[in-house]
Amino acid sequence: MSIQLLSADRITKHYNTYEGAFKKSALTFAAVDDVSLTLFKGESMGIAGQSGCGKTTLVKILAGIITPDSGSVLYKNTPVRKRSAVYPEYRLNVQMVFQNPDQSLNPRLTVESALKDLLIKRFSRKEVYNEAVRLMEITGLSEEHLLRYPSELSGGQKQRVSIAKALALRPEIIIADEPVSSLDVSVQAQILNLMSKLKKEQGVTFILISHDLAVVAWLCEKIAVMQNGAVIEYADATDIINNPKRSHTKELVDAASLGHK
Ligand SMILES: Nc1ncnc2c1ncn2[C@@H]1O[C@H](COP(=O)(O)OP(=O)(O)O)[C@@H](O)[C@H]1O
Ligand SMILES: [Mg+2]
Repeated sequence: MSIQLLSADRITKHYNTYEGAFKKSALTFAAVDDVSLTLFKGESMGIAGQSGCGKTTLVKILAGIITPDSGSVLYKNTPVRKRSAVYPEYRLNVQMVFQNPDQSLNPRLTVESALKDLLIKRFSRKEVYNEAVRLMEITGLSEEHLLRYPSELSGGQKQRVSIAKALALRPEIIIADEPVSSLDVSVQAQILNLMSKLKKEQGVTFILISHDLAVVAWLCEKIAVMQNGAVIEYADATDIINNPKRSHTKELVDAASLGHK
């Protein structure tokens, strides 16, 4: 039977519109509008849709970074609340990787220090260094990279380090928000290949966001298509690509870089 890892249950989040902020009135719009979705173990989920459709807001809610106006996040069928018993396990098991690796790397810390700060939460002092080396190897880097500062790494290497940081506590779920969009095209495939390897070898289930359907279809078993804050279609990746039901999904299929990946 499939294990339900993470669910959005009727999540809604409003923001002030530009006009609302300007007039200091209460004009709001739903950035995420009544979204329900479930992530199952071993079935990575892609979230696709045009810029501004609410992808980042939705996954930041799933990761516990922002709170929804209504609806709830469920971790293994239990609603996540700050004081609930399931909260520490949820925080450990749901990690995020951002579009720009600089967002998750402190320029003043070497890779080793950054990883040690995390690893010490889970491993003994003796184990920490070996774990850091292991993370370098898993992410396609080497022991010598541990001594580097972010400024001494390429964009692709920095994204590998942010993935290593996300992996440090051995999470079940990694939410990657446009993780290759800021990288050179030649490096994008390498990072996608790394995520595919982590699926197979580390048993990580991904939520991968991209504006490009081809990218999510390549990695994920399921795809949710968003438009104007709503999930308009949610199905197996092959069905979304080969048999899209909604006209907006068809537009995204036509715009996708299929064949290049
Ligand atoms: N903190 C915020 N305050 C006000 N509006 C926001 C904020 N964050 C995002 N938005 C708006 O919400 C909508 C959805 O944004 P976002 O979730 O970032 O979409 P996506 O990731 O799909 O590009 C956009 O119109 C965006 O401008
Ligand atoms: Mg976004």
